[in-house]
Amino acid sequence: MKIAILGAGNVGGALGAAWARAGHMIAYGVSEPGKPAHAAVAAAAGGARVGTVADAVRDADAIVLAVPWGAVPAAIAACGDLAGRIVLDATNPLTFENGALSLSLGFDTSGGEQVTALSKGAHVFKTLNQVGYEVMADASGFPTPPTMFVAGPDGAAKQTVLRLVADLGFAALDAGPIAISRLLEPHAMLWIHMAMAKGAPRDGAFALMRKTGAAG
Ligand SMILES: NC(=O)c1ccc[n+]([C@@H]2O[C@H](COP(=O)([O-])OP(=O)(O)OC[C@H]3O[C@@H](n4cnc5c(N)ncnc54)[C@H](OP(=O)(O)O)[C@@H]3O)[C@@H](O)[C@H]2O)c1
Repeated sequence: MKIAILGAGNVGGALGAAWARAGHMIAYGVSEPGKPAHAAVAAAAGGARVGTVADAVRDADAIVLAVPWGAVPAAIAACGDLAGRIVLDATNPLTFENGALSLSLGFDTSGGEQVTALSKGAHVFKTLNQVGYEVMADASGFPTPPTMFVAGPDGAAKQTVLRLVADLGFAALDAGPIAISRLLEPHAMLWIHMAMAKGAPRDGAFALMRKTGAAG
């Protein structure tokens, strides 16, 4: 598939390289095309195109938001009409206060719901926000594949997103509608807390495991 990734930083770079290995075509949309750092990211993603956000999304089958939370409104606005498009929202609405990262909103709304409101008519899915970029770059090597929840509207678009997430090596799991972002963003915050405050490895991930021999 043709995947537009908005943001060529840690997350954008990791996802682009991993999806390129799985056979997808990547185009990056950035606010300032031409920065020297983009060349290595593009090369690692199979020789990806790097351009404006409008260029990247033009012929994309799926669009991934991988920009800082504060840049989300500008990145979405730069896409133009998103009606009917598939948007994967990998962002977390983080703020830095009193020396620590925390969520800037919740628990009666969520970043995923705000992205949905901004992306008029798009099929928006909260996913790929739940582990560090190191795991997104390479989800292999775990005793059981790490779980990656997907929250968003039911239908063909959700099946596409579940496949794209599985192509990265995750156990992709449908978590329900976009309002479940209210749970998935704090779930990401737990991962961040464990990594930043409790010494958990940045290449660690959570997995919803089944007992050996469980039916179904
Ligand atoms: N880091 C993680 O492990 C992790 C894990 C899960 C989720 N997330 C979430 O993923 C998002 C990205 O995190 P990150 O660590 O990848 O950040 P990052 O390394 O700072 O990269 C952000 C990228 O977004 C680009 N950007 C900024 N404003 C833009 C705009 N208006 N339009 C297009 N591109 C724009 C930046 O371009 P410039 O380089 O030109 O500034 C940069 O390439 C955040 O919302 C974060 O909460 C991060």
